[in-house]
Amino acid sequence: MRSIHEAPAEAGAGRTRPAFRWWLAALPLAVLAACGGGSSTGPSEQDLAAQGRQIFRFDTFGDEAKWTGQLRMHEVISQAVDPATALAVGLKVDAEALPPAVAQGIRDGTIDLTDPRTTVALLKLDAVVGLKGTVETVDGQDRLTKVGTTCALCHSTVDDSFAPGIGKRLDGWANRDLNPGAIIALSPALPAATRAVFNSWGPGKYDPRFNLDGQSKPLVIPPAYGLQDIHRITFTGDGEDIAYWNRYVGVTQMGGLGTFTEPRLNLSVTNGTVDLVTSKLPALQAYQLSLLPPPAPAGSFDVAAAARGKAVFEGPGRCATCHTGAKFTDANERLHPAADSMAEPEIPSYASRTATKQYRTSPLRGVWQHAPYFHDGSAATLQDVGQRYNSRLALGLSAQQVADLAQYLKSL
Ligand code: HEC
Ligand code: HEC
Repeated sequence: MRSIHEAPAEAGAGRTRPAFRWWLAALPLAVLAACGGGSSTGPSEQDLAAQGRQIFRFDTFGDEAKWTGQLRMHEVISQAVDPATALAVGLKVDAEALPPAVAQGIRDGTIDLTDPRTTVALLKLDAVVGLKGTVETVDGQDRLTKVGTTCALCHSTVDDSFAPGIGKRLDGWANRDLNPGAIIALSPALPAATRAVFNSWGPGKYDPRFNLDGQSKPLVIPPAYGLQDIHRITFTGDGEDIAYWNRYVGVTQMGGLGTFTEPRLNLSVTNGTVDLVTSKLPALQAYQLSLLPPPAPAGSFDVAAAARGKAVFEGPGRCATCHTGAKFTDANERLHPAADSMAEPEIPSYASRTATKQYRTSPLRGVWQHAPYFHDGSAATLQDVGQRYNSRLALGLSAQQVADLAQYLKSL
């Protein structure tokens, strides 16, 4: 076995390996194709969205101050996080960022996926989705000197087309395999009690307020697609546009340099003395608005049952009283008291920790794609969702109607 960083001389018996020239070359830049946005976007909006894609995937807003300066994640990664471990905590590898020789080496097992130096090599290629490493050559050796995170960490996954965890990027799809708590808990800078909280969250979940209010009730990581025309952002509708929340996460969670202020929470956070966030928000928002919810795969639901389920949704299920219109949400008209969430009552109540103290009716386009459901992930399947509403609201639906409802939800 050899690592990516090693000379290829001893590679596979009898085969000549291409010299790993790529290694010496500059980092490959992701190719910016025209953005696959909605048909209504004009050329300049498309440019903005293309810039936003670059930001979404690769911009850290200077959050290395947190991930490197405070949490010292660069040390842990260099010493202990080999690619196998990285994949096990849900990190994804962008197959399109791998030069052919590396892709071949991973395929034939000649690149060592149990060596942390391979992780550093992948970071140097910008191939680890959502992590941005700075790799410098010190005494002829590659060293990871800085690491930061990007939006893609939680809101992109890959299609597994190359291998499990390795494939083409799917931006906007929540990474439900990612265990952000377990990753942060690797930091040598945290006290044991804090690490224990982070380790309790599990895959696909993150509490974006724990570091501010000290309470722990993680949310499922939601998709960042399908938000066009929706003017209440987050589970609790805290912001009227995506940029509100992007600023919140960019500054208060990722640790980007800039300011977030929220009078409703009596909160003001400023990191650093420069602002690396504000100027990027318009492009970042344009990109997210271009991300459409993925259509249900052909054959993934029963068409006849879905048609019956639609009638349940609009009739005896009473779903369409809140899940209204083309996006299946009344978010632009109103928010709902905490009791309208089938995940409440919970301790602590997530809504009580937010600016609105209420919940937004979740949009349902693409809902087939992102189980588990409700803000806390307490419904494993769409069948469970229907069953929960049926019993909690005493809707009196038959088992058949609940099953049909699930087929309809799978079709949206
Ligand atoms: C560590 C994981 C993590 C990172 C990194 C992250 N987010 Fe999120 N994001 C979340 C979670 C968890 C929520 C749910 C928060 C809520 O609803 O209260 C969320 C919510 C959102 C939403 C709201 C979705 C909706 O349905 O209204 C958008 C949009 C979003 N994030 C975009 C971004 C962008 C853009 C970035 C980079 C600036 C980013 N996120 C970074 C975890 C993350
Ligand atoms: C009173 C308003 C209201 C009614 C009626 C209602 N919902 Fe909801 N729905 C919500 C709210 C609010 C949420 C967000 C709850 C949460 O995440 O805790 C939600 C969440 C959901 C989700 C989870 C989406 C996700 O991204 O996790 C599904 C699926 C859903 N509802 C389906 C239904 C179905 C099916 C019905 C009818 C049986 C229904 N809803 C009736 C308000 C409503």
